[in-house]
Amino acid sequence: MTPQSPPLQRINTVLELRRVLDPVRLAGRTIGLVPTMGALHEGHLSLVRACRAECDVAVVSIYVNPSQFGPNEDLARYPRSLEADLAALADCGTDLAFVPTSEEVYPPGYSTWVEVGPVARPLEGECRPGHFRGVATIVLKLLNMVGPQIAYFGQKDFQQALVIRRLVEDLNVPVEIRVLPTVREADGLAMSSRNRYLSPEERGRAAVLFKSLRLAKDLIARGETNAAAIATKMREVILSANPARIDYAALVDPETLEPLQEVRRPTLAALAVVIGRTRLIDNCLLEPLAAG
Ligand code: PAJ
Repeated sequence: MTPQSPPLQRINTVLELRRVLDPVRLAGRTIGLVPTMGALHEGHLSLVRACRAECDVAVVSIYVNPSQFGPNEDLARYPRSLEADLAALADCGTDLAFVPTSEEVYPPGYSTWVEVGPVARPLEGECRPGHFRGVATIVLKLLNMVGPQIAYFGQKDFQQALVIRRLVEDLNVPVEIRVLPTVREADGLAMSSRNRYLSPEERGRAAVLFKSLRLAKDLIARGETNAAAIATKMREVILSANPARIDYAALVDPETLEPLQEVRRPTLAALAVVIGRTRLIDNCLLEPLAAG
């Protein structure tokens, strides 16, 4: 935090949020929003720093959104570390932390849901039915509550970012969506709040996700274009971290998420792998070898 930065303000209600942000908007100052579920790490903070640098007022929301968790998922044990999160946000020069309660977000009688079409269906959509309905709904609500000009998301959740871009375009939400690169640990593991679930032994094995993405890149650099062949080799690497369960290891079109047979244009390699009881996702964009 620079010496001149005002202290972090914590706000819990939409009414208070409006009271603070309406004059900011009226004064023509830009508001940036970074939506999070807390348990903040450097991946989140990279988004906050970009927001801080590009906007006059940086808002970070912290809310573990129940509607995006399935009945057998980890909502109850999802890591919560609010005091440490607020300290990290203050350090990054965040102006405002919005920390609503569930009564505030989903009051009695709440009954409106946002359903996004085809990009929400494969990959995570298939493995986690209802997940993107919950994500799209909470993100639209947060955008409406905060009214930012720019909102920041991570490439780590590639499909989520696509769903949000689609939602914003289809519903004419006046916001610019920025998607920033995945921040990784030294061994390549994508930072994630869920990495806290991993035992030291599982943490070691979790490096196979990145290893398999790197292998896909290497295979393409050596001229391989057959998507099935690449996916098979990626699966072999992941399964070497025995026991590991693969939900998917897919090469898809980065705009439609439809499967690709050949890597002849930019391709998304997307993974979801369960190590122990922890489900991890990762992805990378693969560029085909230049022709000729
Ligand atoms: P959460 O998992 O807390 O992530 C908040 C934001 O941080 C998302 O945009 C995510 O893509 C980004 N992020 C997570 N790990 C990252 C990493 N290693 N590098 C860069 N960015 C990273 O995603 C959600 O929360 C929720 O679905 C939410 C959008 C807040 C809606 O509830």
